[in-house]
Amino acid sequence: MTIQTFRTIQEMRTQVAAWKATGLRVGLVPTMGNMHEGHIALVSAALDQCDRVITTIFVNPTQFGANEDLDSYPKTEKSDSAKVATAGGHAMFIPSASEMYPAGFSTRVIVDGLTDCLCGIARPGHMDGVSQVVTKLLNQAHADVAFFGEKDWQQLAVIKRLARDLDIETEIRGVPTVRDEYGLALSSRNGYLNDEEIEIARKLNVILKKTAYDIAAGGFATDECMKAAKALMKSGFSHVDYVECRDADTLEMIDKAEGRSCRIFAAAHVGRARLIDNHLVN
Ligand code: PAJ
Repeated sequence: MTIQTFRTIQEMRTQVAAWKATGLRVGLVPTMGNMHEGHIALVSAALDQCDRVITTIFVNPTQFGANEDLDSYPKTEKSDSAKVATAGGHAMFIPSASEMYPAGFSTRVIVDGLTDCLCGIARPGHMDGVSQVVTKLLNQAHADVAFFGEKDWQQLAVIKRLARDLDIETEIRGVPTVRDEYGLALSSRNGYLNDEEIEIARKLNVILKKTAYDIAAGGFATDECMKAAKALMKSGFSHVDYVECRDADTLEMIDKAEGRSCRIFAAAHVGRARLIDNHLVN
C-alpha cells in the first residue's frame, strides 16, 4: 500500500490546492505518531467525511515540559504510515523540527481561561505548545475539516476556541474516545506500563464512570471527586493530579450537575505514565 509523504509545507499546500481546485473536500488528522486504534479512528472519521485525508506526525517539542518524555517519545514513522495507508488515508505530512520552527521563530499562541485549569496546571506551558503547533498545522494545510480526539477534551476545547478566535476557516470536529475491552482509553503512553500497572490503569475509567453517575444522581461534585481521588490512590495510582467536574464547553468548575452539560476529568500517574480520561455526566 503506497501513501504520499510530504516533508515540506509547500509540498502539502500545493497538493491541497490541487485537490480543492477539483472540488475535493480535505480532512486533516494531526498526531505525534506511535499510532494506535484511537488515532486510526480519527483517520476513519476523516475518511467518512472527506475525499482526501492527510495525517500529520510531528512530536512537537514546545508542548513537552523539561522533565517529560520528549526524548524517549516513540518514533515509528514506517509502521505509522503503513497503518494509515491500510485505513485508507491518502497522505502523510511529516515535517522536520526546522521546517516547523525555523531559526528566529518567536510567536506564541495562548488561549486564556481554558488553559488555566486541569492539564494547564499540572503541565505548565503544555497547552500553549499545543495551541502554537495546531495553529501552524491548520494554517499550513488549509484543510476543510480537522479531527481531534475527545480523550483530550481540554485540548479539543482549546483548539475549537483558537480556531474561532483566530478566524481559522478549518472546521474542528471531535471524535469519541477509543477504549480497550476494559474501558481503558487507548494512549501511546499505555505502552510504558507492565501487566500489573495496566490492571491499575484500567480502574481509572471505572472510577470515573461511577463518579459521573453519582454526580448525575445529585451528589456534590467536589465530594464525589474527592472520593474518586481517594479510590484511585487505593487502586494503586501513585499520584492524582486532579479529578474535577467541569462544564463541557467553558471548562468552568461545576458543583451540581442540575441539567448542565458537564464532564468529569481526571489525570493520574501509574508507573512511568501519566494517564488522562474524561466522561460525560448525565
Ligand atoms: P497524540 O497524542 O498523538 O494524539 C493525536 C490525536 O489522537 C489527538 O487528537 C488525540 O486526542 C487523539 N487520540 C489519542 N488517543 C485517542 C483515543 N483513545 N481515542 C480517540 N482519539 C484519541 O494530541 C496530540 O497528539 C498532540 O497534542 C497534537 C494535537 C498532535 C499536537 O501536537
